Amino acid sequence: MDKIVIDGGVPLRGTVAASGAKNAALPTLAAALLAEGEHVVRNVPNLADVRTMGRLLGSMECAFERDPEGHVARIRVPRAITPEAPYELVKTMRAAVVVLGPLVARWGKARVSLPGGCAIGARPIDQHLKGLAALGAKITLEHGYVDVEVPGGHLKGSVFTFDMQTVTGTENVMMAATLAEGRTVLRNCAREPEVLDLAVALNRMGARIAGAGTDELRIDGVTSLRPLDHDVIPDRIEAGTFLVAGALPGNDVTVMGCAADHLEALIEKLRAVGATVTAVDGGVRVVGDGRPRPTDVRTQPHPGFPTDMQAQMMVLLALADGSSVVTETVFENRYMHVQELQRLGADITVDGKTAIVRGVPALSGAPVMASDLRASAALVLAGLAAQGTTEVQRVYHLDRGYERIEAKLAPLGARIKRVKT
Ligand code: EPU
Repeated sequence: MDKIVIDGGVPLRGTVAASGAKNAALPTLAAALLAEGEHVVRNVPNLADVRTMGRLLGSMECAFERDPEGHVARIRVPRAITPEAPYELVKTMRAAVVVLGPLVARWGKARVSLPGGCAIGARPIDQHLKGLAALGAKITLEHGYVDVEVPGGHLKGSVFTFDMQTVTGTENVMMAATLAEGRTVLRNCAREPEVLDLAVALNRMGARIAGAGTDELRIDGVTSLRPLDHDVIPDRIEAGTFLVAGALPGNDVTVMGCAADHLEALIEKLRAVGATVTAVDGGVRVVGDGRPRPTDVRTQPHPGFPTDMQAQMMVLLALADGSSVVTETVFENRYMHVQELQRLGADITVDGKTAIVRGVPALSGAPVMASDLRASAALVLAGLAAQGTTEVQRVYHLDRGYERIEAKLAPLGARIKRVKT
């Protein structure tokens, strides 16, 4: 199993480019199931989760291939497939559940493994299922699988209000509604840029979705869609992780291909801790001016502060000149990185949804264990800032969402390498 070894305390300077967004690429690849034919999706990140989605599409008789760099995906979807997502694949990647909406829409039936909980929370899919039921799907849960049947084979447009804003829930029901009979109105939808990007991709396939990027979607069902031809948006969370690296004391990092309007809540907080953030042509530059100032952070659905940046932001706050309060409102158990940051000398106390982060002047390198994707990114950032050597173990979590992070950080001056063990 690989580990990442970092000799920290070295200033980072230079330019790094964001890859395509994992959380936009995965539902877009699943959207291919909505139309027979040859699909092409560009700016796909070369990540373990994309490979898993490829295997899942492959298990349903679709041909999935990528160019040698792994950034252009081609999918051939045949007329008939087996609309089933097995436990073996769904258990390695919860996002696999986004095949449910397309399968039900096109084949009128689907069998998809329930994803189960994960390191950051219980993460039920009740809203996905209620939304599909509102469109006429009959759902049974048996032997760990969701079995969906649509009487008559076709979903029917309807009005549905989500109980909470859910990203993949909105994506699943939106995809299902594209092929439903008549108009669907979805309320309290997630407004994340990835949902908007998926809607753009679906409309290019011939779907009729209005209101994308707001909390109300109006979808007029069509009888068929044409194959995808889409460029995925840049990954705002990968970009945001590099922006936090730039805000660490003594650093000066420009992130290219980064959409500043997707990162407003983060940029506001980087300014609040004293970093200088400027828009440059095609990117964002961040200069970390000395020790960060404390600031409070509350995670929220977009456009609030993203839960996927909470762990990374905590690294900055751990080095601040004072105490900050972090409140995680999206997931119930997203503080797994805290114990590992404590091993590096951070002073953080967690009580339920709240973490009190008392800034310390410096962190010191230590071996640490990654528990989930964003926790791993936080540990890499902490290792870059810490004096001495940090070894981040269980790197497979990191590889699910960051394309060769060590190869992107090394040109900035980071002393970081991947070691096979
Ligand atoms: N929720 C329910 N019922 C549902 C759906 C969601 O109770 O049917 C709850 C969840 O348990 C959670 C909240 O609603 O407390 C929001 O969850 P959401 O459904 O929005 O999360 P998700 O769609 O499963 C996506 C991203 C996550 C990201 C969250 C929140 C993908 C593939 N995943 O997950 O990304 O944290 O939205 O923004 O898009 C990551 O990339 O590291 C990651 C975990």
